[in-house]
Amino acid sequence: SFGHQAESIFEKIQQIQIIACGTSYHAGLVAKYWLEDIINLPCQIEVASEYRYRNPVVQNNTLFVTISQSGETADTLAALQKINNTRNEKQINIPTLSICNVAESSLTRESDLTCLTHAGPEIGVASTKAFTTQLVVLALLMTSIGKVQKRMPEAQEYRIIQGLHKLPNLINDALEHEALIENIAESFADKHNALFLGRGTMYPIAMEGALKLKEISYIHAEAYPAGELKHGPLALIDDNMPVIAVAPLDDLLDKLKSNLHEVKARGGQMIVFEDEQSD
Ligand code: F6R
Repeated sequence: SFGHQAESIFEKIQQIQIIACGTSYHAGLVAKYWLEDIINLPCQIEVASEYRYRNPVVQNNTLFVTISQSGETADTLAALQKINNTRNEKQINIPTLSICNVAESSLTRESDLTCLTHAGPEIGVASTKAFTTQLVVLALLMTSIGKVQKRMPEAQEYRIIQGLHKLPNLINDALEHEALIENIAESFADKHNALFLGRGTMYPIAMEGALKLKEISYIHAEAYPAGELKHGPLALIDDNMPVIAVAPLDDLLDKLKSNLHEVKARGGQMIVFEDEQSD
């Protein structure tokens, strides 16, 4: 729940500004696609370490959303403090909402609304389950705003909620591929670079994949929106550069396939994550 004041806050907002770092930023990027594509609500997103040191244009009736696993990331907190000052100075309506995994954190204390991710403690360095739960909360946030502002038909709301209910089983199915993925990982071990590709919401997912590979294996990895490939990075592709593509069955699959043909033509080694139903 986003709290009892949420409804009256959501009624008035005209756009969303998301601020976060690292993995949390990638979750926010996915949400930008959702908010604009599904409920047609303008959404801007920026990494906190940039936002806090510049003079961004702040518009009235903006919902300011921070995302953080720990709730203690200094840049994210500073961006929130900056917006708190701005709204006091200018007397404008900028409600703040934090999506956070730690109930009693600096971020939740300084936000008007909080939604906890309930991911349990993150023990390793790399944020993993926090990401998945952030996406769930962001999907719920979009649905709540969509509902309050009548931007989302009931049938669509129902589809999203049904989809979220299916998640635990789908995650279990994905985890069953562990042995296969271990094999793929071995073919990677001696590489020094990797390229992750995606389109649409799968572009930020590719960014998250590249970040995880860097953090865990110290292999250099970059993510590209697949359509940008021909504008430079294609030249780097050879059999020493594994290319990982996230390719669900969606409207962009054909476009992505044509990008992957370009990779193939250059002798790139491809690892494609696709739906069972794709051909
Ligand atoms: C990646 C990772 C970092 C964090 C980033 C933000 O695996 O752990 O990139 O995502 O430092 O941290 P939080 O979400 O706590 O604000």
